[in-house]
Amino acid sequence: MSSTRVPAVALDRVSKRFGQGAPVLENISATISPGEFVSVIGPSGCGKSTLLRLVSGLSPISSGQILVDGMTPINAREIVSFIFQDPTLLPWRTVQANVGLGLELEGAARDSRHAAVDGLLQLVGLTHVKDAYPRQLSGGMKMRVSIARALAASPRVLLLDEPFAALDEITRDRMNEELLRLHRQQAWTVLFVTHSVAEAVFLSNRVLILAPNPGRMQHDIPIDLPVDRTPEVRNSEAFDTLVSHISRSLRETHAVPTP
Ligand SMILES: Nc1ncnc2c1ncn2[C@@H]1O[C@H](COP(=O)(O)OP(=O)(O)OP(=O)(O)O)[C@@H](O)[C@H]1O
Ligand SMILES: [Mg+2]
Repeated sequence: MSSTRVPAVALDRVSKRFGQGAPVLENISATISPGEFVSVIGPSGCGKSTLLRLVSGLSPISSGQILVDGMTPINAREIVSFIFQDPTLLPWRTVQANVGLGLELEGAARDSRHAAVDGLLQLVGLTHVKDAYPRQLSGGMKMRVSIARALAASPRVLLLDEPFAALDEITRDRMNEELLRLHRQQAWTVLFVTHSVAEAVFLSNRVLILAPNPGRMQHDIPIDLPVDRTPEVRNSEAFDTLVSHISRSLRETHAVPTP
């Protein structure tokens, strides 16, 4: 038997066009191993959100192939969770009722549901506000509710689309550290879209840079920083070097002429 592990996400010459329009994504190939944290960065409109939607099965590919843990995106839906930029919580439900919504819809028994929700709230540090309503929470707390709700489905692959874009820098740094802590604990594979180079470098073990018109893979950059990313990593020379290198590559993609 082969010892090769099935990739968590395998993109093979993936292209996407909407209707008869020009291709939005062209020939995207990448293999993401289980447990990897991969960020996707690129100019606005280059197709980052579209790429996540293809992987999640929300939108069909036009050509090529996507396999998620060896399955088509539609068949892999149960192991994938998508965290959108806007947390979209139900305003009339408390924090714990929002987190438990998916389990409730699945028909999980009340006791097991409550135990699962309690554990998730503890994981994201929101036990103290479990009876609060979304309007009483800060942006960062709402995002954590959204993450807990996504985790209730026990995903193996997590797709995050600019989840921290609206947060102030200090809260964002804290959320990054929490996300890494959860990633270590849960061993998910993560595909993370961001416009922040520093965030991408801090979180990832690889950064994919997309060029626009049509969206295509420009660079696949390994992030060779210590696996244990303490906040101090941000003050290291290696971190600064990677941020400058990626920023430079990103500026080049902005300058790439449309073919
Ligand atoms: N449903 C759709 N129908 C037609 N065109 C679409 C659709 N969704 C996205 N597009 C087009 O695809 C391109 C890529 O959009 P996408 O939202 O994936 O970009 P993005 O890289 O996520 O941008 P941003 O950084 O601004 O979020 C854009 O030109 C957009 O207009
Ligand atoms: Mg987007």
